[in-house]
Amino acid sequence: MHDDDRFFMRDAWVFDPEVRPISIPDLNLGFDTRALHAGFHPLESVEDFRSFVPPIVQSVTYPYVSFDEIPYPVYGRTQTPTTAVLERRLAALEGGQACVTAASGSQALFHLLFTLARPGDNVVTSLNVYGEGYKQATAIFPERCGVDFRFVEEPAIAASWDAAIDDATVLVWLETPSNPCLFVTDIAAVAAVAHAKGVPLVVDNTTATPALQKPMELGADIILLSITKFLCGNATVLGGAIVGPEPLVEDVRWNTTEFVGAVLPPFEAWLTLHFLETLSLRMARHSANAQTIAEFLVDHPRVEHVNYPGLPDHPQRDLAQRQMSAGGGMLSFVAPGGMEGAAQVIDRFELITHAVTFGTSRTICMHPPTITHEHMTPDERAKAGIADGLIRLSVGLEDVDDLIRDLDGALER
Ligand SMILES: Cc1ncc(COP(=O)(O)O)c(C=O)c1O
Repeated sequence: MHDDDRFFMRDAWVFDPEVRPISIPDLNLGFDTRALHAGFHPLESVEDFRSFVPPIVQSVTYPYVSFDEIPYPVYGRTQTPTTAVLERRLAALEGGQACVTAASGSQALFHLLFTLARPGDNVVTSLNVYGEGYKQATAIFPERCGVDFRFVEEPAIAASWDAAIDDATVLVWLETPSNPCLFVTDIAAVAAVAHAKGVPLVVDNTTATPALQKPMELGADIILLSITKFLCGNATVLGGAIVGPEPLVEDVRWNTTEFVGAVLPPFEAWLTLHFLETLSLRMARHSANAQTIAEFLVDHPRVEHVNYPGLPDHPQRDLAQRQMSAGGGMLSFVAPGGMEGAAQVIDRFELITHAVTFGTSRTICMHPPTITHEHMTPDERAKAGIADGLIRLSVGLEDVDDLIRDLDGALER
């Protein structure tokens, strides 16, 4: 609980495993209908500004009507009319009660951890998390906030998660499929062990997106999203979001975001609303292209290993098929010759761009051991499957034959 009522504007959220934070009314509409309509009705917009598309309200502050009549929204650090539409829409897509957006996906994680964890608490996770998440978990929170992170040894086994949870655990946090090795964690099984001990489960749904995976239906209590990736889909927006029970979302918004800022600006929210309209169409094409490329790479004599949940030999293939409706747009593969081999392949691409991020309409490659996961120890990288020759491929929406030609050319030469 917060210890000083002078500062904190909302009650601290208290997790109750008996209460499922699912929003029923929005679930009556199909996913694509929600992506187009949730959170905004043209006839409910203000009369003078009636608009078919959600309007962008590029204003930081909102005037008081009279001395003691506080407007809502009141100030851009908590919400704006445009981010409010996006927050309702993201909550509807994930099937959650409420949402608060943030300046990036990493910021969303930071705000969530900062709101819920106190010195002496711990968070249970695994090494299958993105680079900035790992850095927050190993450096920022343990060293600066006294919050310990436990990386489970056998993330494929629910008992391993169970063994790591104790009385000081405030959250279990998992990412599935993981970046960059596409490890798939059993959401329902981890939710069951966390809930049995009264601990909420946080799932990062950035890689699959709600178009392909519905963690809340499987027992997750809170969803983390990077908008920057597939939700935006073209590397024009940096943003993040937390979807979860309304009291949790308002705890984050009023007790952390309100004091810290780092919010998603209205223009970014407005762009994201438009990009979300095509999310499921894009994810279907990303997945189809990635599946074709994964199958091509797995048979390629100069590729040592391929990670993709849609491949028959993926270690959690059955689970992926149960938990996801398609394999998604990210894969990774190991080039021969370690770091040097990976560097040669990357430098030979002509169509595929070498850049940091994923989830874009144009295909991108990146070398996780030196760029995103460089702070892991060699032993941790080995445990997480991040070989020196690993190349992450974010498969775009191009004609897949052109991508295969580029890959083949880079591997052959
Ligand atoms: C799975 C996952 N979640 C969250 C993030 C953070 O996103 P952002 O770049 O918006 O901070 C990343 C970034 O790579 C990621 O891979």
